[in-house]
Order: sequence, then structure tokens, then C-alpha cells
Amino acid sequence: IPSMAGCFHLSPDRVAEEANEIARLGIPAVLLFGLPEHKDPTGSEAWSEQGAVQEAVARIKEAAPDLVVVTDVCLCAYTDHGHCGVLRAGRIDNDATCDLLAKVALSHAQAGADVVAPSDMMDGRVSVMRQALDRNGFQDVCLMAYAAKFASAFYGPFREAADSAPAFGDRKTYQMDPANSDQALAEIALDIEEGADIVMVKPASCFLDVIWRAKQRFDCPIAAYNVSGEYMMVHAAAQAGLLDLRAAMQEMCTSIKRAGADILITYFAKDLARTLKG
Ligand code: PBG
Ligand code: ZN
Repeated sequence: IPSMAGCFHLSPDRVAEEANEIARLGIPAVLLFGLPEHKDPTGSEAWSEQGAVQEAVARIKEAAPDLVVVTDVCLCAYTDHGHCGVLRAGRIDNDATCDLLAKVALSHAQAGADVVAPSDMMDGRVSVMRQALDRNGFQDVCLMAYAAKFASAFYGPFREAADSAPAFGDRKTYQMDPANSDQALAEIALDIEEGADIVMVKPASCFLDVIWRAKQRFDCPIAAYNVSGEYMMVHAAAQAGLLDLRAAMQEMCTSIKRAGADILITYFAKDLARTLKG
């Protein structure tokens, strides 16, 4: 992936090998993002039984049964307009999107996912998904909500990788205002009320105060997503000879844990695991 140093797209036939390496490094879980063969207005490949994520989940669970498999649930990589929801008259249709996301979550659960992780930021999607999972016998599938997800400049490299930059407008009608941490805490409270088992703050580094406040306030595991821009900022600076990659990586990841994250999601995972093992 040109925009993300050391990261690769994998086809489903390559994931077993990767899963084994990850498990050997002592990393407890993986988070899967999919890329469709064709994008369309509703992102219909997202809930296809033959989708890349659905196939990859099954292969990973077979190769490394103890590795926790988390799937990202969203439409933006699958829609031809790149928004996280479906459109009606040029606007995001919140409730119609929730119904489609529930179909995606269910298809991931059917493929064997342990955790589904909605990253769309529609209102009410956690309860719609929880109900769909429960009604279909997936009470044990865990729900990790991207609860406080900010409209951030640090998603750039990922959007390049997923070809998911919105074709018009921006994501500020559904992602949060970086200046407003009270609203972020209110969003986290809502997701917990709707049935989220884990709540996430994203990005991590510029929002350490939000992680800290969430950890103090809620009795719910807090995940923090160290996003593509945070990762590439360190890589680019190291590449330019301006700082030490390993030391900067460790300091950045340590700060996220120190702020109170129970779960750290990071593209540094393999490098960090190798470094920590010594
Ligand atoms: C959207 C989504 C985003 C990322 C993954 N899925 C944010 C966005 O494009 O608005 C970013 C992840 C990263 O930057 O590492 N569902
Ligand atoms: Zn999205």
C-alpha cells in the first residue's frame, strides 16, 4: 500500500499465513477491512457471502482459532460515492444505513467473526445491529463500537488505501467535532446504552484526553485506534532522518495506554510486538 509503509492488501488465500505469524507474535486479535471487486450506490458487496472479509474470517478462524477476529462494519469502501451510508436526495439516510449495516454485521457473524465493529457513526446503529445478531442466534458475538470517532485529518493514508474518500462533501455530518469532547462522551454513553461491549476512541494521539475521560467515566473496555495518519507521521519523519522510528513508535503507543486504553489498535502491532519481545 503506497500510502502506508510496510502495509499490504491481502487476498483471502494469504490471510492464514499472516494470521499464524500474528498469533506467534502474541498479538491477541486482528481487525479486518475489506475491499470489494465492484463498488455500487448501496455498497452491496459488503454483505455478500462470497465477500473478501467473509472468506478471510473463515480462513483465519480455521488457521488460528485462538486469534480473535474483529471485522470493521461500514459501507464506505463498498459504495461508489465513498460515504459511510446510503444516500437519499444527496443526503445520508441514517436509518436505511442502519438496516444495511445490520446485514453486514450478520454476514460477518455467520462467517465466524468474534467481534463486529461498526465504524460508520450513524445514530442508533448499535441497537439495530445487536437486535439483528441476537434474533439470529449470535448472542455471543461481541460488539465493539467506534463510539467517539472524530472527523479527523489523520485518516488520509487509509482512505487512499481503501479508495474510500467521499466523492463529494465530507464526513462531518456523522463524525464528531474534534473540538467537542463533551459530545464525544455523550456518544460513548449512548453506544453503551445501546449494547456496545467495547467502545472506541478514534484517532488516539490527538484525543488522549477523551480516552482518559472515558476510562474514568465508564465501566466498559475502552479501545483506542492509532490511525493511519498517526502511523505515517512517524514513518515519514523517520524516513526523513528526523527521529528514531522504534523509540517514537513506543512512546506514541505507551501514551495511548497511559491515557487509559484497554485495547490498542495499531498498524505498528507487529513491529511493537517484536520490539517488546526484545
Ligand atoms: C470509515 C473509516 C475510516 C477509517 C477506517 N474506516 C475513517 C474515514 O475514512 O473517515 C480510517 C482508519 C485509519 O485512518 O487508519 N468507516
Ligand atoms: Zn465508513
